[in-house]
Amino acid sequence: MGHRVRKAVFPVGGLGTRFLPATKSMPKEMLTVVDKPLIQYAVEEAAAAGCEHFIFVTARGKGALEDHFDAAPELERQLEEKHKDEALDAVRKYLPKTGQISYTRQTNPIGLGHAVWCARHLVGDEPFAVLLPDDMILADVPCLAQMAEVYAKTGGHLVASENVPREHTSRYGILDVETDDGTLAKAKGLVEKPKPEVAPSTLSIIGRYILDPVVFQPLDKQMRGAGNEIQLTDALAATLDRVPFHGLRFVGKRYDCGDKVGFLEANVAFALKRPEMAAQVRAAIGALLA
Ligand code: UTP
Repeated sequence: MGHRVRKAVFPVGGLGTRFLPATKSMPKEMLTVVDKPLIQYAVEEAAAAGCEHFIFVTARGKGALEDHFDAAPELERQLEEKHKDEALDAVRKYLPKTGQISYTRQTNPIGLGHAVWCARHLVGDEPFAVLLPDDMILADVPCLAQMAEVYAKTGGHLVASENVPREHTSRYGILDVETDDGTLAKAKGLVEKPKPEVAPSTLSIIGRYILDPVVFQPLDKQMRGAGNEIQLTDALAATLDRVPFHGLRFVGKRYDCGDKVGFLEANVAFALKRPEMAAQVRAAIGALLA
């Protein structure tokens, strides 16, 4: 079975209210972990998994995201003249080629399902990835690449999953598990943000998806769900009788960068993985805690 994933959707239309005032005039996805914005990590992860077309679902005030993925001729010329090769590399290396990025707008942030639906014409009729940039995953093999390999066998819908403490189920989409081999779980149902006492399991959906385009059919109906938002989880649940749904326990550590503490933790964790600064960071943290 061939289920190659060529397109990646980045829903970046949210308000980022949990990060105000930082996100008043700057998109949440431009928040920096060490020296790169969240969105760059996500785009690099998609590219590493073989994606060739990057679809941003943006909104008003998100222009900085587009500029980050454009050439910067003046800056590049100055860096060239000053022979700042490393800096030049840093501003050029990650740029997808012209025509590989498309932008569409979500005019009203009424939910993740709605944001994904806004990309329907750019996705067309093929499997596609969705990456939420505020979920960052530190892993030897990037999370989406782990998923793409499994997806070649499963098809249908595949999401990244991890077990969360039961008291946190109301923050996530949760799987109602049919079978589970400890790595890959097949779901027979899905619930968005269930209260702990009614959650069918503690296996959660985190911000990486590979989806069959059948998901656009329920999204066309624009039904509101939890929090009065158009929920992606509800649309996935509505197609469980059409395509298989699996959750993959990826190998790696996830950081919730939509949350202040998670974001700070990610900064430290990613800095400690950088050979050129790890020792200094370790020493600085040690001194702070002493
Ligand atoms: P979040 O639930 O983290 O919402 O969305 P948010 O608005 O970004 O942040 P808070 O909760 O107000 O602080 C998860 C992802 O879905 C996108 C967000 O941009 C983020 O990447 N999203 C959410 C949209 O693109 N559109 C929406 O209507 C909702």
